[in-house]
Amino acid sequence: MKEQLKKIYNEVSELVKKAQTMADIDDIRAEYLSRKSPLNEIKKGLKDLPDADKKIIGPLANKISQDLEAELKAKYDVIYKAELDKKLASDRIDVTLPGKFIPQGRIHPLTSTIEEITSIFHTLGFSVIPSELSPEVETEYYNFDMLNVPKDHPARDVQDTFYTNIAQNVVLRSQTSDAQIRAMENQAPPIRIISPGRVYRNENINSRKNNFFHQIEGLYVDKDITFGDLKGVLNEFIRIYFGESRPTRFRNSFFPFTEPSAEVDVQCIMCKGKGCRTCSGTGWLEILGAGMVDPNVLRGVGIDPDVYSGFAFGMGVERLAMLKYAIDDIRLFFNNDDRFLKQF
Ligand code: DAH
Repeated sequence: MKEQLKKIYNEVSELVKKAQTMADIDDIRAEYLSRKSPLNEIKKGLKDLPDADKKIIGPLANKISQDLEAELKAKYDVIYKAELDKKLASDRIDVTLPGKFIPQGRIHPLTSTIEEITSIFHTLGFSVIPSELSPEVETEYYNFDMLNVPKDHPARDVQDTFYTNIAQNVVLRSQTSDAQIRAMENQAPPIRIISPGRVYRNENINSRKNNFFHQIEGLYVDKDITFGDLKGVLNEFIRIYFGESRPTRFRNSFFPFTEPSAEVDVQCIMCKGKGCRTCSGTGWLEILGAGMVDPNVLRGVGIDPDVYSGFAFGMGVERLAMLKYAIDDIRLFFNNDDRFLKQF
């Protein structure tokens, strides 16, 4: 029986030496040290042995169990450490490597200008109409006819307005004033709305003109609206947007859809009114057109001009941004030069 025990020991000890993985260790333990293992069978049979044998075989069997257990444990530790080292080596992170450059976008200055202007008008009680009432691809009907623009008006010329070939009379809108008509068709007075959007004109591009740009249209229709209300709202807007210190002026003007009409100029920031290339030497830059809504326009959308009156305005977003941030070339907004965009 002693021989048998030694044989078991030698055999298992050899297996432990050959073990390569933790799974091998588990297998050995299950097969040779479990309750059903030959070693354990011998221990179970001890009670049937004569006392003299018991005293020798018992301790020997226990010692072999303990030795094998210790060898397994030692081998387990070696394998565990080797596997851990391998994993750590393959997962290694070099914290001294330089980081990757992740370019970050930012809000375009025209977007933030539109947001700023919109929020000022919010505080003055105006809300933005849904964009479907302000389409960029528009019919002549909304872009011109309903705004009282005569059939032979030069603005309708292909030299000025982009005609599409979607259908006859479908244009890229030349002004956001189309939104006025759609707003008045959509809701009854009182109406107090603004509508920011993009407009297109067949222009030669230079530092002050691009063939598309942005406008914010405004419209206020109610009983007893006067030119005084128009001046009050626009002056308040200019005061908030530019601050107190920027000289402005109202000038007489003409638009087919307003009577009387005005244009508002703001002193040129580049030359402080002295006259420079940006303001063509006048010291002023026009930022918007405005006026009292022409009775013909109100009648066209079924609003009685004897009961209601209103004012409207359309401002140039690029102009307003240029005048606030001293940008002297409109093309800077559109050519995606990161050095320019980064400054906002
Ligand atoms: N639509 C005009 C333009 O693009 C600007 C304008 C003038 C808008 C007078 C208005 C207005 O609403 O009342 O030049």
